[in-house]
Amino acid sequence: MKAIKLFCLMAAAILAACTSQNEKIASEQKANGFMDLARARFAVREYAQTPVEQAKIDSILEAGRLAPTAKNVQPQHIYVLQSPEAIAKINELTRCAYHAPVVFLVCYDTELVWTKDGENSGNMDCSIVGTHMMMEATELGLGTCWVKWFDPAEVAAAFDLPANHKPSFLLPCGYAAEGVQPHANHFSRKPLSETVTYK
Ligand SMILES: Cc1cc2nc3c(=O)[nH]c(=O)nc-3n(C[C@H](O)[C@H](O)[C@H](O)COP(=O)(O)O)c2cc1C
Repeated sequence: MKAIKLFCLMAAAILAACTSQNEKIASEQKANGFMDLARARFAVREYAQTPVEQAKIDSILEAGRLAPTAKNVQPQHIYVLQSPEAIAKINELTRCAYHAPVVFLVCYDTELVWTKDGENSGNMDCSIVGTHMMMEATELGLGTCWVKWFDPAEVAAAFDLPANHKPSFLLPCGYAAEGVQPHANHFSRKPLSETVTYK
C-alpha cells in the first residue's frame, strides 16, 4: 500500500514538472512568435486580385474587437469595403488604397469616445484596434498597408457615414501581388539608443 502511495506521489510530481516545463516552452514560443510576426510584416502596396476568404476577414475583425480602448468604451466602427463599387470609390478618393480587394475603413464614434480636456482618444483607440487587425492579417498570410493619405470628410461623404463616425485611417488588405518586396525604407529602423531614454 505504501509503495503504491509513493508511486502515485512520484508520478504526480513528474507530471507537474512536465506541465510547468511545457507551459514555459509554450510561452517562449509565443514570445518568439510575435517577434517573428513583427519582423515579417511590411507595407504592401501591390495586391493580387484573389478574394480574401470571409473566415480571414472575420478573424481580422475579431482581433480588432479584442483590442483595449480608453475606458473600454470601444468607440471603433469598421467599414469593410469590398464591393466593386466601394473599391472603385475608395480608389478614386485616394491613390493609397492600392486596389486591394478589401479596404478596412476604421472610424471612431465621436459620441462614444473617451474625451478629456477637449481631447479624445479616438485615433489612439483606432490605432490599437488597427494594429491588432494588421498583425492578425500578417499571421494569416495577408498583406496590409496603414493609410492616412485621404481626406476624412470626403471619404465620410462618399460612403454616407453618419455624422458621428469619424474616419481615422484605411487599411487596404489582401494577398500581396507576386514578387512584392518591402520598400527600402522598411529596413531602416533607428537604434533604440536614439528613441529610448532610461531615467
Ligand atoms: C500613421 C501611418 C500613416 C501611414 N500612411 C501611409 C499612406 O498614406 N500611404 C502609404 O503608402 N503608406 C502609409 N503608411 C505606411 C508607412 O509608410 C510604412 O509603414 C513605413 O514606411 C514603414 O515601412 P514598413 O511598414 O514596410 O515597415 C503609413 C503608416 C503609418 C503608421
